[in-house]
Amino acid sequence: MKRSNVIHWLLFVCLAVINFQVSSAGLTSLRGDAAIEAAEPAPPELERFINDKENVDRTFKQQPPLIPHTNEKYTINLRVNKCLDCHMKQPGKDEAKSVEMSESHFMDRAGNKLDHPSGARHFCTQCHVPQIDAKPLVENTFKTVAAN
Ligand code: HEC
Ligand code: HEC
Repeated sequence: MKRSNVIHWLLFVCLAVINFQVSSAGLTSLRGDAAIEAAEPAPPELERFINDKENVDRTFKQQPPLIPHTNEKYTINLRVNKCLDCHMKQPGKDEAKSVEMSESHFMDRAGNKLDHPSGARHFCTQCHVPQIDAKPLVENTFKTVAAN
């Protein structure tokens, strides 16, 4: 037998032993008992977006604030940006309805002020994401920037 073949064999035997030990330790994955090939539906709590609750505390200073409402129906494409209906002051619109985007959203890359939202900020959900009302999978003691 060639030397490289012997090494392959040894590796195979080692992996088989490890595999046996892991499966016999009674571990179950977070997906439960589902077979690897099976496409399980997403758990229902992953569909439960928080909606119009209070703003979410920021986790760190430069964090794009999290979206405290659902956003599935707010289209953003080349022509339309539904988010701007509420997050930009516009004549005839109720200004008190929501917080306007910050000044940083009206600047070009060189820091010049613009009279319209910067193209670099057009796709809001590139940075701002909605939140799901789900319990943390594991306990942790993390504190937000406000709590520190
Ligand atoms: C129908 C009006 C409306 C639309 C459309 C809308 N929002 Fe909001 N949004 C609100 C209101 C009201 C709040 C809560 C008050 C506030 O902080 O502005 C809010 C809060 C937020 C906040 C939290 C601000 C903070 O300082 O914590 C973000 C981020 C945000 N929205 C992003 C978006 C994005 C991105 C879209 C488009 C996908 C969008 N919103 C569409 C009304 C709207
Ligand atoms: C490149 C990332 C990025 C994109 C794209 C972006 N934002 Fe932001 N946004 C931020 C960051 C970072 C902050 C917090 C720092 C700041 O205010 O500049 C913020 C702050 C905000 C706030 C809170 C303002 C306040 O005074 O509390 C609102 C509302 C907001 N963005 C809405 C939007 C909307 C609507 C869009 C799309 C038109 C958008 N943002 C696109 C990164 C982004």
